[in-house]
Amino acid sequence: MTEADNVQRTLIVLKPDAVQRGISAEILVRFERRGLRLAALRLIKVDRPQAEKHYEVHKGKFFYEDLVRTISASPVVAAVLEGPNAIAVVRSMVGSTRPHEAAPGTIRGDYALVGLRNLVHASDAPETAATEIALWFPEGVVRYTRDVERWMTDEGAPG
Ligand code: CDP
Ligand code: MG
Repeated sequence: MTEADNVQRTLIVLKPDAVQRGISAEILVRFERRGLRLAALRLIKVDRPQAEKHYEVHKGKFFYEDLVRTISASPVVAAVLEGPNAIAVVRSMVGSTRPHEAAPGTIRGDYALVGLRNLVHASDAPETAATEIALWFPEGVVRYTRDVERWMTDEGAPG
């Protein structure tokens, strides 16, 4: 894969409910199967300052305190995924914020029932993706290509 304009990086966090329920790998495999490339991956117990930074955009909202407490309650799996239009692709796979509105086939639509237990965080725009990746992976991501890349992206197609 080249650094084409539409190749993006996005951050996902498989929240404490995903890890506690033992479905973090099951969720992660969906993104890999879609063709997205893992660029970083770690299991981390988030402390309060990091939780506050991660959810800074929601400060002042009625659910902010619950949000910060929930994501720092138990370990999470954080990952960076990359691929063409990765931000939109991942958001559509995750589904609506409120799981009762999430379409079947999405992660929230298949596995979740309520907003505070909706399993996955995913970056929502290029700017937030960049900020979030820097927050969760200050050491940077791993750069590589996979031999199969040309069978999943425009790169190398059609021959
Ligand atoms: O995660 P997403 O980007 O879909 O939603 P958000 O609007 O960025 O909100 C962040 C998180 O706050 C959600 O994933 C929910 O866990 C929680 N939330 C909630 O519990 N109730 C709401 N009305 C809105 C958000
Ligand atoms: Mg969000």
